[in-house]
Amino acid sequence: MSTPMGGGQFFLMLMKSQFFVKIPLPTSDFTGQTVIVTGSNTGLGLEAARHLVRLGAAKVILAVRSVDKGERAAESILKSTEKTKNVIEVWQLDLGNYESIRAFGKRVGGLERLDAVIQNAGINTLEWSTAEDNETTLTVNVVGAVLVGLLVLPKLRESGKKFGTKNRLTFVGSDLHYVGSVKEAKQAGSGSLFDALNKKQNRKLFDRYPTTKLLLLYAVREIARRSPVTPESPVIISCMTPGACKSDLMRDEIPKIVRIIIQSIMGLMMRSTEVGGGMLVDAVRPDRGIEETHGAFLQDLKVFPNGPNVESAKGQDLAKRFNEELFAKLETISPGSTGVLQ
Ligand SMILES: NC(=O)c1ccc[n+]([C@@H]2O[C@H](COP(=O)([O-])OP(=O)(O)OC[C@H]3O[C@@H](n4cnc5c(N)ncnc54)[C@H](OP(=O)(O)O)[C@@H]3O)[C@@H](O)[C@H]2O)c1
Repeated sequence: MSTPMGGGQFFLMLMKSQFFVKIPLPTSDFTGQTVIVTGSNTGLGLEAARHLVRLGAAKVILAVRSVDKGERAAESILKSTEKTKNVIEVWQLDLGNYESIRAFGKRVGGLERLDAVIQNAGINTLEWSTAEDNETTLTVNVVGAVLVGLLVLPKLRESGKKFGTKNRLTFVGSDLHYVGSVKEAKQAGSGSLFDALNKKQNRKLFDRYPTTKLLLLYAVREIARRSPVTPESPVIISCMTPGACKSDLMRDEIPKIVRIIIQSIMGLMMRSTEVGGGMLVDAVRPDRGIEETHGAFLQDLKVFPNGPNVESAKGQDLAKRFNEELFAKLETISPGSTGVLQ
């Protein structure tokens, strides 16, 4: 288990961010660029895709688990931006299904150009279920998300070299990672973290989401460390949070009526989906600097310091252990996928 940030400190940070930081909508030029946004049929992903089309991207790929929902999202974007139909493509991708991720990775390999990927799809649920070989949140928010990142990396590199661009890959994490501690590590002892995380009796109800976002950050930092930005690999990799935003994220978490009450109270501090989606786009803007971004966690549009659950000796040990297990698992799910890392 790692040491999380104290609840009081987190609360103050959240209040400061939500009430006092003004977030402008993105204005960077994406002309000619191809960008993939996962989970873009609704919520922040949809608004990010809408901004990208507005900002001149040549192709925006909506990677969604339901193609029907994706087509409806594409229609809504085209209507609001008055762009032509061929700007948007809808591709199937289910992060809870490894075969779907492998097929998506193959399809990405056939693209002529790829400038940026926003790995946005994610879930937050209190229900226990499994997808593939893990609890569903763990599969979707971590294993699936990281596999997508590894499978798009070769195309981002190739395209960056071909077109002379610095390409970008961002993973949508959460500021809640600061209070994540992976309590299941206690039960794991010196055994497998995945086994402990996959035991229903070990799960602490509200912990799973922050835990998965902390584990995702551990993995993103490792990918960035093992994929430095070089002329051979001109790809800037980051993890980011849009802060608390209005979206459908809590759809499964609590009864509808309770959700409506919470959202109307929380609504006072939540960012709009349009602003939150814009923050996803800012993380992959073409002029993102390497030094400030690669391997970093972005909050309020800038690099934020790591919490004790990343920087402390305990946090570092946990990250090392988890990454060893995760990357070994990914190699069995998709042989060769981790070979893109040094
Ligand atoms: N909203 C916030 O306050 C907030 C704060 C920090 C971070 N985030 C992060 O932002 C990201 C987007 O969340 P959101 O707030 O926009 O929530 P949302 O409205 O619920 O959107 C989530 C998106 O992810 C997709 N998705 C879920 N499971 C998937 C799967 N197995 N395969 C592929 N796509 C899947 C959903 O598709 P379906 O419609 O098909 O389910 C939907 O498009 C998430 O990673 C979330 O953790 C959100």
